[in-house]
Amino acid sequence: MRRPIVAGNWKMNLDLAAGRDLIASIRAEYATAEPVEVVVCPPTPYLFPAAKALDGCEIRLGAQDIYYTKSGAYTGEVSAEMIAETGADFVILGHSERRHTIGHLEDDRMINLKAHAARRAGLTPILCVGETLAERDAEKTLEVLTFQLTAGIVGLDVSGAKDLVIAYEPVWAIGTGRNATPAQAQEAHAHLRAELRRLIGAAADNVRILYGGSVKPDNAGELFAQADVDGGLIGGASLKADTFVPIIRAAVAAAV
Ligand code: PGA
Repeated sequence: MRRPIVAGNWKMNLDLAAGRDLIASIRAEYATAEPVEVVVCPPTPYLFPAAKALDGCEIRLGAQDIYYTKSGAYTGEVSAEMIAETGADFVILGHSERRHTIGHLEDDRMINLKAHAARRAGLTPILCVGETLAERDAEKTLEVLTFQLTAGIVGLDVSGAKDLVIAYEPVWAIGTGRNATPAQAQEAHAHLRAELRRLIGAAADNVRILYGGSVKPDNAGELFAQADVDGGLIGGASLKADTFVPIIRAAVAAAV
């Protein structure tokens, strides 16, 4: 039985005070014994204060990116080891905004190096994969997912749940208010699970595959009810407890 994850990707949003308030509200509403692992991923400068705000509770901390070397002349970059020192357990890698939108334009080789760096520092990579609208329209979705998954985990030793998390994030659904249908999500997730089996064998059953892209309280339940959807990576709706907590509750309901 995989323990679902609900992870909030704050992106470049909120300020220090609002971030602290949000964590306090989530803590107040979410009882730690519940069967879902909750993760918050604030902007890098807020990782230390967020770790403090999370002290003594089971809600976990994640970063939004890392660089792949341990140290060196890489102005502006942050290593996996530095992120681990903040108390983070997870790191999002290969988010579509980094693949397609921000100047870095990360490729799969870079993302794979980062996945290795994450593991070297004891962080769990949340590897994001997903097709663009043009790729979906050209019926290339499954091919793109296979490529991004295969390239992203090359050489990675995966056995337990902490070794790897995948997030299926169709690019056309991110921040657009247009989520994948539960059937579209399940098709992609089942494909990723089958490809994982081919790549890492039975350990594929331990890997949580999250859905991301316009998850909201009113669609979370049907998405999380799909057999291969093990929770969600939430952007816009993770910025307010009023929307994030009901999504956690939907994951709890789907898990029990
Ligand atoms: P969204 O973002 O929920 O705002 O669509 C999801 C993500 O980018 O992880």
